Parts: sequence; structure tokens; C-alpha cells
Amino acid sequence: MQQSAFYENDTTLAQYLEFHFGERWHGEANFPKALANAAMVAMDGRPLERALDIGCAVGRTSFELARHFGHVDGIDYSNAFVSKCQEMARDKRVRYARPEEGALVSLEERTLESLGLEETAERVAFHQGDACDLQPQFSGYDLVLAGNLIDRLYQPSLFLETIHERINELGLLVIASPYTWLEEYTPKEHWVGGVTRNGEDFSTFDGLKEMLAPHFRLLFEPRSLPFVIRETRNKFQHSFSELTVWEKVRQ
Ligand SMILES: C[S@@+](CC[C@H](N)C(=O)[O-])C[C@H]1O[C@@H](n2cnc3c(N)ncnc32)[C@H](O)[C@@H]1O
Repeated sequence: MQQSAFYENDTTLAQYLEFHFGERWHGEANFPKALANAAMVAMDGRPLERALDIGCAVGRTSFELARHFGHVDGIDYSNAFVSKCQEMARDKRVRYARPEEGALVSLEERTLESLGLEETAERVAFHQGDACDLQPQFSGYDLVLAGNLIDRLYQPSLFLETIHERINELGLLVIASPYTWLEEYTPKEHWVGGVTRNGEDFSTFDGLKEMLAPHFRLLFEPRSLPFVIRETRNKFQHSFSELTVWEKVRQ
């Protein structure tokens, strides 16, 4: 399935709403919230004026960041996802049909209030956009967070090699990714890593270091964050996302 078609699909939308706002599955913490928490620990006294959640899907990380930041922009390529984010910010609730088995679904409702996020709605704004071709107004951020995004971009270098322009000096770029490269999303010549180069293994972390080196320094050693996406009552994807935190250096 084409990238845009997959993330516009109603079943995917319901799975992501459950992933962001639903129950905990198989004992793992809520990933979009854990990612925001990890970013906040990394911020460690830095200014908290503006954050960008790029590839925000249905928005949980943006709302979580807005507990702390003055303003958070959430951007996603999918119109269906961005519409749900806007609905959640406006109505402070969202309803969805959670896939259970075959054609069976359960009707679910989640509110910002039940997640302690009601006050955050006025500090978030959601936009349809392309991480590889960001509009000029999206700049001046203290934090840019890209959660499980880079291996879904059609040309990640367009994002990774220009994002420093949008980040304030000493601001952070937080990237989490399971590095599951697939040609249906990213042609192989654009994979950041996970390939052999000159006969040697070249990992995505190697590729990130190379692409980000001119403008960033790695703040911590990479660590792994688990996540569980519930597809149906009986089928789950259990994955691990590698978290790396990069500080924009003074030029
Ligand atoms: C695997 S999902 C992860 C989303 C979310 N950050 C999370 O952790 O749940 C990847 C997201 O990236 C979005 N996406 C794909 N290509 C994009 C692009 N070029 N610009 C912005 N978002 C994109 C998809 O629509 C989808 O919401």
C-alpha cells in the first residue's frame, strides 16, 4: 500500500487512536507519552517556548509536550490523522471503532480530561505538512521530536540535513525509530542505514551520525523504547524504537 493510502485508512486510524489514547497492552508504557517524557528529561533546563512534533500521527505526544511548552506544533502528512488531532483539540474528546475480530469493532471514546491533558489543548496547533518540505513558518523551535518517522519518509536526508535551520541554538532534535526500512515507503538508495557500505555493515545510527554531524552533537548514548500497536484483540506488533538525542551546536 502507498504510504499516504496506509495512513489515510480508517483501520489504521483506529489502531493509532488506540495506540495514542487507549489502553496499555502487554505491560508496556504508552509510547507517545513515554517519548514526550524522555524528551522533557533531555531538555534539562533549556527554554520551553516552542516544540515541533513532526509526524505527530493522532497527536498524543504533542498534547504531552504541551504540559510543559508554551506552544507545540504537530505536523503530519496524513489528512485523516491531522483531522483527528484537530477534533481532539477542539472537542477534547475523540470516538473511534476499535478493530476486535473480523468485521467486529468496539466503540471507544477518550477524553483529554481523563488523561489529565485538558489544559493543553489551547497550546497545540495541528497542521498537514511534509517533513521533507516544511513551510518556512515552522521554525524557531527549542525541541523538534520525530517519533517513529524517519523510516517512513520518502527521502529522510531532506529532513535530517535541513532540520537544523528550524532549531534554536542549543535546542534539541529527538529522534526515535525502529529503523524498519521498507522500500514501499523509502527507496533503498535513500535508507539512512541498515545496508552494507564498502563491504562493511553501516547502521542507521552510523548514518544519523554522518548526516547530523555538521550541526549537532549526540547528547546521550542511544537507548531503546518499547511500543505495542494493537491491531485486533488477538494481534499486536511489539517493537523497539531507538532513541537518540542531538543538541544543535553553536555555529
Ligand atoms: C509510524 S507513524 C508514527 C507516528 C507517531 N509519531 C507515533 O509515534 O505514533 C509515522 C507517521 O509519519 C507520518 N508521515 C509519513 N511521511 C511523512 C512526511 N513526509 N511528513 C510528515 N509526516 C509523515 C505518517 O502519516 C504517520 O503518521
